[in-house]
Amino acid sequence: MTQEDLFKKIVSHCKEYGFIFQSSELYDGLSAVYDYGQNGVELKNNIKEYWWKAMVQLNEEVVGLDSAIFMHPTIWKASGHVDAFNDPLIDNKDSKKRYRADVLIEDHIEKFNDKINKEVEKARKRFGDAFNEEQFRSTNQRVLDYQAKMDAVKARFVKALEDNDLDGIRQIIIDEGIVCPISGTKNWTEVRQFNLMFDTKLGSVAEGANTIYLRPETAQGIFVNYLNVQKTGRMKIPFGIAQIGKAFRNEIVARQFIFRMREFEQMEMQYFVKPGTELDWFEKWREKRLKWHKALGMGDNKYRWHKHDKLAHYANAAYDIEFDFPFGFKEIEGIHSRTNFDLSQHQQFSGKKIQYFDNEANEGYTPYVVETSIGLDRMFLSVISSAYCEEQVGDETRVVLRIPAPLAPVKVAVLPLVKKDGLPELAEKIMNRLKLNLNCQYEEKDSIGKRYRRQDAIGTPFCITVDHQSAEDGTVTLRHRDTMEQERVSIDDIERIVTEKCDIKNLLRQLM
Ligand code: GAP
Repeated sequence: MTQEDLFKKIVSHCKEYGFIFQSSELYDGLSAVYDYGQNGVELKNNIKEYWWKAMVQLNEEVVGLDSAIFMHPTIWKASGHVDAFNDPLIDNKDSKKRYRADVLIEDHIEKFNDKINKEVEKARKRFGDAFNEEQFRSTNQRVLDYQAKMDAVKARFVKALEDNDLDGIRQIIIDEGIVCPISGTKNWTEVRQFNLMFDTKLGSVAEGANTIYLRPETAQGIFVNYLNVQKTGRMKIPFGIAQIGKAFRNEIVARQFIFRMREFEQMEMQYFVKPGTELDWFEKWREKRLKWHKALGMGDNKYRWHKHDKLAHYANAAYDIEFDFPFGFKEIEGIHSRTNFDLSQHQQFSGKKIQYFDNEANEGYTPYVVETSIGLDRMFLSVISSAYCEEQVGDETRVVLRIPAPLAPVKVAVLPLVKKDGLPELAEKIMNRLKLNLNCQYEEKDSIGKRYRRQDAIGTPFCITVDHQSAEDGTVTLRHRDTMEQERVSIDDIERIVTEKCDIKNLLRQLM
């Protein structure tokens, strides 16, 4: 199965099993906006819990916040979003399709990498165990040529971005012969800037309504509450403020399902530090965040670092964690050293002093900030796409979501073998015991095999089957999702066994 086919299957699986629906589907949908269904919301909540506990509960110096989506419009002037939160867009005159010019070039650059990797894989097959990848990459002429071409395009691209040179960006597209994926032509318009913020009105028209924005990131809610939290929480630097919440961006090209949405959720943390120490903290948070991802056990090879070649004017270091989605490695989280830019801007625009007074050193300063910012929906997509698995069982294909057990929407399904002989009553009794602690599902319709398959498809780690023997000796069959193994266990032991495997503590322990 190609990666493209796999991705299509994941998208339709998400709909069929109540994870994700197109928003406003009844009215033919709203582009790049999605609703999370009965299983999706559980998975999403579990990811949030994992992040929140890892950030706020495990780090005593990190506290939470839930700031409003609507904020004073001057905040977005101060942060630079009104003037500079733009994407360069370009249209193809034949297909009438609109693209982000920078993404067209980035995808083109990535193709050189793909070509290099193909050469490496070919050589690996040819030379077998004797293959020395490092030597091959540094000596093979074809690889060196691709690398040189890639470096040259990259250098031009970075310069054009730095100079905000829209004609330069267009010229790269022309010179590199980049074509529209739909029409296949190079018939491009000029490149224009497009602001991504949604605006709306606060107050009635009669009163003279003010234009305000739907926040494009949650981070500014943290910056403008820095003083409130520092003072009321008597926080000492270094300390962090974490929040989870909705963000809105009028993305030019919304694509790849929930990867790029117009309404999405972020989990962000700003860590306030003494100037001069920020790069040490930056490295510490890089390490912590990668560990958080890897603790899920989805495969260490699924992650890689991307160092920003072009730093935003306020940053002095920036890396992204990229995940290997079915459409390739793409950003899932950004870790940025943002200097004191945001706090200084808010100090200037609000006219209020935003400082920290260090009693020991007897000095005041504007703290520097290290930010970790992850998209909850992208995280969701990474979990679902690495969990989706089709395997042959006898002469049928089983679709199973191998979701890490602590994140699984339903932890255990309680299934009476038949709908009679007192089995449903006993199953309900067990269900009532378990549901105080675990998200469970009770199912009595269809054959037991069909019910197992339905639970596999939503990633339920355990099924318990209540049969005639259960009424006699107080045992049930416990079936494990991944191995399909079944064992006989006492009803009294179920909660302990399931909790041991599904407890979020299993993940958190790895972070200590
Ligand atoms: N405060 C920093 C900030 O917002 P960003 O790189 O623009 O940085 C952070 O966004 C994360 O938010 C990204 O790594 C990504 O996971 C997620 N994200 C950004 N735009 C998104 C979109 N349109 N749809 C879904 N997730 C998005």
